[in-house]
Amino acid sequence: MGATETSDVGPASTYRSSTRLGPLGALSLRLVVANLTNLAGNRPEASYLETLQQGANISVDYGDIELPEWYDDGKIKRAQEYFRRNFYAMFIGKLCGLLAIITVPSILRVLVHTNQSSEPRTAYRRYVATIMHTLEWYFEDFVPTSRAWKSISFVRKTHAGVSRQASSVRPGMIISQRDMAITQFGFIG
Ligand code: HEM
Repeated sequence: MGATETSDVGPASTYRSSTRLGPLGALSLRLVVANLTNLAGNRPEASYLETLQQGANISVDYGDIELPEWYDDGKIKRAQEYFRRNFYAMFIGKLCGLLAIITVPSILRVLVHTNQSSEPRTAYRRYVATIMHTLEWYFEDFVPTSRAWKSISFVRKTHAGVSRQASSVRPGMIISQRDMAITQFGFIG
């Protein structure tokens, strides 16, 4: 199956039936799922898709940050250098990724709920703030005293707070681990 084909892949039909955004939203999610399926093929990695789907009911949480054991400072520095050399293209890519993820109904409903992206003034503040956080991650070291570390702690706390508040208003309205993974795919790569 080619990367852009969208033939029947199981969980995509779930998204299709739940979308209220018409063909564009359904298509874009089907593409993400089809691409993941395509990448996974018949290899053991096929379970990635199942794992992704299981994360749909698990909220983000908040706690102290620890670097994973596979963290590689050399690779991070190389990636940061790559970002600096391709700044413009990387940000255009992120913008496209952001536009793509708002076609995911469970992400859109949280953004509608917080009302920070609904009119130009609030959306401007919110997305300039997002850009400033992103710059910390690409320019700073990942050590507990750095601005990158503080930024990630702040964003994690914000996500966890929004998820808790949203689900208290409407059960099931959470920022899920699945939506974090999809957003990371769209926004970070
Ligand atoms: C890798 C994934 C993600 C990254 C890198 C990310 C990044 C950020 C950043 C930097 C902020 C701070 C912006 C500010 O200070 O106003 C933020 C806030 C926020 N994020 Fe995320 N985010 C991710 C996933 C998600 C997902 C899946 C949702 C679900 C809807 C979400 C919803 C929010 C909300 C509601 C806020 C608070 C501001 C608002 O109400 O819009 N984020 N995020």
